[in-house]
Amino acid sequence: MKINIGLTKASTEKVVEILSHYLADSYYLYLKTHNFHWNVTGMHFQNLHKLFDEQYNALFASLDEIAERIRSLGEFVPGTYIQMKDLTCIKETKEIQKDKEMIKILLDDHESVVRNLRNWIEEANGAGDVGTGDFLTARIEEHEKIAWMLRSHLED
Ligand SMILES: [Fe+2]
Repeated sequence: MKINIGLTKASTEKVVEILSHYLADSYYLYLKTHNFHWNVTGMHFQNLHKLFDEQYNALFASLDEIAERIRSLGEFVPGTYIQMKDLTCIKETKEIQKDKEMIKILLDDHESVVRNLRNWIEEANGAGDVGTGDFLTARIEEHEKIAWMLRSHLED
């Protein structure tokens, strides 16, 4: 059915592009965090295994919210690995990392997502899509909180 929620086609396309990019970044970050949960070693194993568990679960839950935001705008979700790979700018890690390096990598990724979200929120609001602007504003707080928790492990 034709969607009639007061957004132009151009605005919808712009915002769906943003959400698709964010979905792919979140998917890659989810998998990376789950990977680190599985493969972390060292003196802080128990603590980090549990921290990464909480973080990958939170990221996994967000995937459905982001995807369903795209559906709420009347568009289909890029839901394949090939599409995700093309859309994301999160870099994969192939080698097994040391525990401290894992924390640094995740911190860098979350900080980069936060910086992207800051621009995307402005673009979504500028396109008149206050729903997506509001949705992404709530998401930025979650990434900032995860980044704080990761950063705290690196500070004395
Ligand atoms: Fe587990």
